[in-house]
Formats: sequence, C-alpha cells, structure tokens
Amino acid sequence: MTLKVYFEKQMRNVLRELGYSCDNPIVTISNRPEISDYQSNIAMSLAKVARKAPVQIAQDIVALLEKNSDFSKVSVDGPGFVNVSFSDEFLSQMPRFDKFSNKRIVIDYGGPNIAKEMHVGHLRSAIIGESIKRTMKFCGDEVIGDVHFGDWGTPIGMLIAQLQSEQSDLFSTESNINSFSMTIAEISDLYRRASARFKSDDDFKEQARIATFDLQKGNQLYRKLWKILRDKSVDSVKENYDKLDVIFDMWLGESDTNDLLSVVVDELLDKKIAQHSNGAIIVPMPDVNGKERAPLILKKSDGAYTYAATDLATIKQRQSDFSPDVILYVVDARQREHFEQVFTVARLGSFVDENVALEHIAFGTVNGTDGKPFKTRDGNVMNLKDLINLSEEKAAENIADNNVDDELQKQIRQIAIGSLKFQDLKNLRTSNYIFDTENFTKSEGKTGAYIQYAVARINSILEKVGQLNDPKKIKISHVLEREVMLQLHRFSEYLQQSYINREPSVLCDYLYGLSQKFSSLYAELPVNGEQNDELRNSRIFLLSLVKNTLEKGLNLLGIEAPERMSRRKI
Ligand code: ARG
Repeated sequence: MTLKVYFEKQMRNVLRELGYSCDNPIVTISNRPEISDYQSNIAMSLAKVARKAPVQIAQDIVALLEKNSDFSKVSVDGPGFVNVSFSDEFLSQMPRFDKFSNKRIVIDYGGPNIAKEMHVGHLRSAIIGESIKRTMKFCGDEVIGDVHFGDWGTPIGMLIAQLQSEQSDLFSTESNINSFSMTIAEISDLYRRASARFKSDDDFKEQARIATFDLQKGNQLYRKLWKILRDKSVDSVKENYDKLDVIFDMWLGESDTNDLLSVVVDELLDKKIAQHSNGAIIVPMPDVNGKERAPLILKKSDGAYTYAATDLATIKQRQSDFSPDVILYVVDARQREHFEQVFTVARLGSFVDENVALEHIAFGTVNGTDGKPFKTRDGNVMNLKDLINLSEEKAAENIADNNVDDELQKQIRQIAIGSLKFQDLKNLRTSNYIFDTENFTKSEGKTGAYIQYAVARINSILEKVGQLNDPKKIKISHVLEREVMLQLHRFSEYLQQSYINREPSVLCDYLYGLSQKFSSLYAELPVNGEQNDELRNSRIFLLSLVKNTLEKGLNLLGIEAPERMSRRKI
C-alpha cells in the first residue's frame, strides 16, 4: 500500500466515524512539504452540505487522526486543510511496490517509413513508446510492441516510378531486379528526387499511383523490388533503434495487412458504413458539435488503399491475433484527426471488441532554438544518426579523462543516449520542446547525466565502504535521511501516475527529486565519518536503496546507468 493509499484509508475510517459519507477524501502530496507529507482537502467540500465551517470539520478529523501513532504530526492549516506527516518509525519500513495492472496491451510505436532515413521526428515516438512499454510491463501488463513499418503506401509507388524513369531496363527481366542493390543513403536520395517530382509533375504522379496500385495488387517484379528496398530500410532502422536501446517484439508493417484490406473495405460497404463516391470508397464522418468533417477515404479512385485503410485492417488483425485490452498509438499530435477517424470507423465496423480501448498517445514536436522544427546548421532536417553522433560528441566533451578506452567509450555512449532520452522525456509529452544542444549532456541541472552521476557516485561510495553488515535496517536519525526515505516510499505513487497518464515525465520528475535529495544527504552526512555502527549501517543500506530505485527508474525510461563515471568537467 502506498503512503497516499494508507492515508486515504485512515481518512475514510475517520470520516465514517464522524458520520460523513464520502468515498474520495481528496488526498494529495502536500504542497507545503516543510509542514507535512500529505494533505486532505475534504473539509472544504463537506462544509456546505454539513452546514459547518471547514475548520471545524477539519478539527474533528484531526482529533481522531491524532490517535494513530503512524502519524507524527497532524494539523489543521489555513481554511481547513488536514495535514499529516508520517512517523520516522513508519517511514523506516521497506518501501513496497505491488504490481497493480494485468492487461494485454499492444503498443504501436516507432513507425518509421521505408526509404526515408530516420530523422529527429522519429525520435519521440521511439523514446516515449519504449518508456511507456517498459513501465506497463513493470506494472504487471503483458505488452507487445510493434514497430508498424510504413511500407505500403504511395511513397513506395513513387520509388518504383522513379526507378522506372532512371533505370529503364531494370524492369525488363526478373534477374535485373534480383541483382538490384542500393545503400540506404542512395535509397533515400532516390526518394528525395521522387518526392520533388511527385509535387510538380502530374504525369509522374499518375505513374506513381499506378505503381502503388499494381504493387498492392501483386505485381511480382514490384513485390521483389519492394522487398529489397524494405529489407535495406529495416536494416538501417534497426541500427538506429539498437543504438537507442529501443526493442520491438514485432516488426510488422502496413504491408502485412494487404490481404485484409479488401475484406475490411467490403465489410464496411456491406454494413452500409462505407460508400462509393466518384470512384473512391469513403466513410462519411458524423458531424461533431455541429461541425462538418471530411470523409475518411479508404480506397482512392485509382484503386490504391490508403493509410487509413491499412490502420483499420491492422486493428482487425490485432484484435484477432492478440485480443488485447488496449491498443496504444504513440504518434505525433499532428495525426490526431487521422486517429479520431480511424477509431470511429473501427468501432462502427466492430473491428474490435467493445471494451478494447484505442488510444492515441500524442506528442509534440522537437524544435530548434528558433522555435521551428529542429534543423541542422545548413537548414536540413536533423537526421537521427547525426543527432546520436552529436550527443556522443557532447557527452565526450564533458569528460575530463583524455584516455578513451573501450569502457570509457561505452560510458560516453550511455551518457549520450541517456541525455538525449531524458531531455525528451522530461517534458510533458504533448508539449513541443526546444532541443538544447549545449547543456543536455551536462551532469548539472535536470539532465539524464545528473541522475546517472548520482548512481555512479553511490556505486563508488558502496565500493569504498565494503560489505554491508546485517541486519539490513533503516534507522532515521536526521531530517535528510527522512526526506530520502519519504521519496523512496513515493516511487510507486509516481509510477502509478506515470502509468495512468502515459506520461514518462512524471518519472523524470521523481528521479530528479530523488537524486537531489541524495546529493543533499551525502553532502551533509558522509557515510564514512559516522562512528555509530547502527547509523552507518543504516546509511549504507539507504544508499543502496536509492541506487536500486534510480537504476530501476532509469531503466523504465530506457536509460542505462553506467557502473562508474569518469571525472567530469561539469
Ligand atoms: N509511418 C507513419 C508516419 O510516419 C507513422 C505510423 C504510426 N502508426 C500507425 N499505426 N499509423 O507518419
């Protein structure tokens, strides 16, 4: 039971005893930590019905709570806030974490596209998705992560059409196709040329459309070529995800729904949910608050299926493969309308069971200091590989040691990735944020490196003090120890909050707070100076608890903590 839940339970008992009927005692972490640990604001909300002053109600509550020795201090403050602090004795117990969820969840994240090199825009889905996935697993869910590769729409038709015009004999024999090969950089250049033409050249556009349609219908040469392009893209994407420690359970993509596309669309036509319109097949969208909405297009007049159709088919597929309780989509906020429409139609068509939750986990963009989407100095979109390299350079700059061996290289990589991820995850996920290329790898301020550094410092302290003697017991002898213990108890509360809101930033706040509290404790009360064996032992144990919690929390963010960290410039 968390501290909050324990206090809520005591409050409920007291309120019942006083004759109030109330389920939610409105308990929060105290907004005045210097006077209490938790507060309840229930007295204010009971006052009206009870026809009593809130202060009076609060005093009655406090009189009963005072009998409970688990609280060291109980008071009424302001207009009727009930404030409590836990006794040191109570806080000295081991913090507990109990799994609290037991769902089957499919999480769709990453979402890279064939032929396009990954750029900074692909960062957030991967990082946020990975953290949410790990958090849910830790809280008890069975979670299946799917990369949902973008590999079946018009972009592929564009590549084929571009190759038709650049290498005309490529499609003349099957063996030409079989021996076709391109690097990922070449493929992505090809794509750039194709997409420029697609915008300005109507004939080319038509060719790309026909190619997309033929590919989806099963043209054998196109399928072969497609597979070559896809494999190459997957290899390059995997390289990026490996570096980021982002691990998928499934590497499915839009193309895996191909056989289901016509099934889904026919089903919607049969049920009169979809209709023909100017050669296309669409689903008219019901008005929302009197506002007309554009229809959802499933099949274009040229015969090609759309992104929406592949998403609908994917929902049907996931329902039948996994019977999930929840499907999460960690995708840019700019696709909000797409998902609203797709979810509406999925429900209309009964492609998922009624009780399955479909959630778009939207996130904001990564901006440069000019407030516009983050670009390189020469004005191009920042590609992900370069961003990872930049992070490594910056991480290396802060290290005082010049002798870079394998171990230091690994450490630099861990700091770089940790900093890159933390800088992203610490923001409310729906906000845009400005990528700070200067300070993000420093071990000062609210950074990943600051937290990693706390772990490394504890490791080195524990190494120096040697083995911990039994019994492993906490004895709180100082307010700073109390604060650390209180924060340790709160891990599960923050974790639940992070889980419920699908919000890794809550965990970032928590870990930053715990690291700060550790730093204050350590500055004031070094372990080695302590003469009293019981206190010394307790303090060593406390540090090991902090270390475990920091490591666990970082792991849930997808961040590794280096065993040790070299001397730092900052
Ligand atoms: N490939 C898509 C894009 O780059 C993102 C895919 C998101 N997932 C989904 N099921 N639609 O925009």
